[in-house]
Amino acid sequence: MADPKKLFIKTYGCQMNVYDSERMAEAMGADGYVTTETAEDADMVLLNTCHIREKAGEKLYSDLGRLKKLKAARPDVKIGVAGCVAQAEGAEIMRRMPIVDLVVGPQSYHRLPEMARANTPQVDTDFPLEDKFDLLPERKATRGPMAFLTVQEGCDKFCAFCVVPYTRGAEVSRDPQRILTEARGLVEKGVRDLTLLGQNVNAFHGDGWTLARLIRELAKVDGLERIRYTTSHPNDMDDDLIAAHGDLPKLMPYLHLPVQSGSDRILKAMNRKHTAEAYLRLIERIRAARPDILLSSDFIVGFPGETDQDFEDTLSLIRAVNYGAAYSFKYSARPGTPAAEKPEIDGAVADARLQTLQALITRQQRGLQEAMVGREVGVLYEKAGREAGQMIGKSDHLHAVFVNDPNGRVGEMVRVRILASSSNSLAGARIS
Ligand code: 5AD
Ligand code: SF4
Repeated sequence: MADPKKLFIKTYGCQMNVYDSERMAEAMGADGYVTTETAEDADMVLLNTCHIREKAGEKLYSDLGRLKKLKAARPDVKIGVAGCVAQAEGAEIMRRMPIVDLVVGPQSYHRLPEMARANTPQVDTDFPLEDKFDLLPERKATRGPMAFLTVQEGCDKFCAFCVVPYTRGAEVSRDPQRILTEARGLVEKGVRDLTLLGQNVNAFHGDGWTLARLIRELAKVDGLERIRYTTSHPNDMDDDLIAAHGDLPKLMPYLHLPVQSGSDRILKAMNRKHTAEAYLRLIERIRAARPDILLSSDFIVGFPGETDQDFEDTLSLIRAVNYGAAYSFKYSARPGTPAAEKPEIDGAVADARLQTLQALITRQQRGLQEAMVGREVGVLYEKAGREAGQMIGKSDHLHAVFVNDPNGRVGEMVRVRILASSSNSLAGARIS
């Protein structure tokens, strides 16, 4: 038999891209490809791109620049571009970068094997009516006991800064029965901790189900121990979903609920359709349902028109919430979005604000992590550590935990007493 062909995939951006890359690898696997760790020994190189901020998009072109040499040395290597830059810039990528053989948008991944077999340049950035996931092969072995499952794609919120509604299109939810089947299949393959993914996951409405109903059904799946979901919009946190955080022990006490800004003026300009006060009240209700929940958020600093006072309001909101984690970004004007029409603020001011905000978040993150010392937590072992007998896992609150446990196995759920906290992880001793 001939050696299998080798596929190298580089994934940029969010967890949905990580999930999509796995599904594309499986689709190509059905066509005889195995994945490899470097571009140099690959027969096909696939860049799964992100378009959310300017820097993310630029990375594609610098990586393609580097691949020119490879293509010159081995012209039969296929170069493909997938993901959100593919969707947004489609044919232009091919014009700018003739080394690219195929461009495939996020809704057309089921066509990837066929496009890779073709001998002519291929571009597919359509939004077909069928669910691409139904057309992809069944999930194969997963990388560990934690997995992602995309349940919803696209977004109808049109935040003024965001390209997602344009690149990923309108909100589409998958069929709940198919999601349940996929989840059961993952559990059979050893998955214990499942994160439901969607750009606006709590707007899930597959076959008339809410996300809360889907989570309640998933909680009945034996062997599935933990359920999480991301990313949510505050306006889609319905009463049942909040209640589920109190009723369902399998729904983990960690919630990523981006607010972007703490200034009502900026929230309005961002078209977020809620106030800072409404967000804080929502957090109170979620904490009433699940008092130990850890919250995280995304923040944008330097949105057009942001004043010192607006930024102070964001810091006040952060102090009021006390976050366990957060991602923060300097505003980046994206072509085609309404905010890109407005004059930008001084870049140095935005940089300084970003540093101040990140320092505050780091203090909060460390404080909440240190508060775990002395507590008993559930840990799911993900892999062996570097030191002999050491296991590394994730706690219910998504903290990385190091445990000295020579008998520990990957995929095992154990109880651990937390003994120490360092900058980005906890250390503990197994108690059962
Ligand atoms: N500039 C900076 N950050 C952005 N995000 C989305 N669009 C932009 C932009 N134009 C951030 C938001 C979002 C996260 C995924 O990326 O905070 O929640
Ligand atoms: Fe973008 Fe999220 Fe706003 Fe949708 S809700 S437009 S994905 S920031």
